[in-house]
Amino acid sequence: MSARRLAISQPDSFQLSASAKKKIQHWIKKYPKDRQRSALIPALWIAQKDAGGWVPEAALREIGDMLGMAYIRVYEVVTFYTMFNLEPVGEHHIQLCGTTPCWLRGSDDLIAVLKRRIGPQGSVSEDGKLSWVEVECLGACANAPMAQISNAKDDMYYEDLTAESFEALLDNLVAGKTVDSGPQNSRHTSEPEGGNIALTGEGPYHDTVVYLPNAPKKTKMSVHGGAPKAKRKAPAKKAAPKTAASKKAPAQKAPKPKVIYTDGPTDGKPDDLKKIKGIGPKFEGDLNGKGIYYYRQIANWKAADVKMVEELIDSIPGRIKRDEWVKQAKTLAKKG
Ligand code: FES
Repeated sequence: MSARRLAISQPDSFQLSASAKKKIQHWIKKYPKDRQRSALIPALWIAQKDAGGWVPEAALREIGDMLGMAYIRVYEVVTFYTMFNLEPVGEHHIQLCGTTPCWLRGSDDLIAVLKRRIGPQGSVSEDGKLSWVEVECLGACANAPMAQISNAKDDMYYEDLTAESFEALLDNLVAGKTVDSGPQNSRHTSEPEGGNIALTGEGPYHDTVVYLPNAPKKTKMSVHGGAPKAKRKAPAKKAAPKTAASKKAPAQKAPKPKVIYTDGPTDGKPDDLKKIKGIGPKFEGDLNGKGIYYYRQIANWKAADVKMVEELIDSIPGRIKRDEWVKQAKTLAKKG
């Protein structure tokens, strides 16, 4: 990698906005007092967005002051990672992947488009709309060739590009039009062109729903991508002909789960549920909120109770069983 240096020409003055500082403080608070320098990368990223796509030297100093770091340490990091731009960029900054899979699939053609429209690598177009650099693999090789295009709000991948589709994409961005990210041909994510050819039937994973670990709590995905399909309706059962016995039989109620509820810890101090591996302060609060305070309550859970509690506290299905809450609660209850 060639040496990267701060821009010779810097703005006369620059200050991070109040909202950028607030976001940086949010990240700083995530780390212990003597480890707050760990917030450097997110702080630089926030500063880059705040400054319009690049990081002026004044912002580096401000971040150094916020994190209690020598400025040289901040410079060392910002000049190492190519995700940080050290010079002003265009409204749409293009990082074109030139690594082997993308190169084999035609990234040279895309580079030719960029050179013709914008100029040599590192240039900004005359209207200030576009700028570009070549980068190493961005991890989307299955959809090579590809580019990441960033603006003030987003950082999006555009994949399965050809010189023609890339030209059209750039035209649209310059014209201020929105272009859907992802494959720019007929592919859906990294499935084969023309549609998926595997796992298409009614196998064990059909319609399986997984929870995304880093997404907001309720976000689910089907294993085939996209939103989960609506649950299929069970075929309507034919009503059995009524017999004399069935006419008289009282309607059967569904068995009630046997979670022991209380309105509060009425008989003494509540148990410390956090002693159960897998229950942290959040789950303990949620369980208490549902009237569950004691090991003995959890120790009595059956499968139906576990299922219901998982829904009540919005836990990942199967987690309570996997972490053996019931078994642990039994042991703790016995110890008193
Ligand atoms: S080689 Fe281009 S994304 Fe991996």
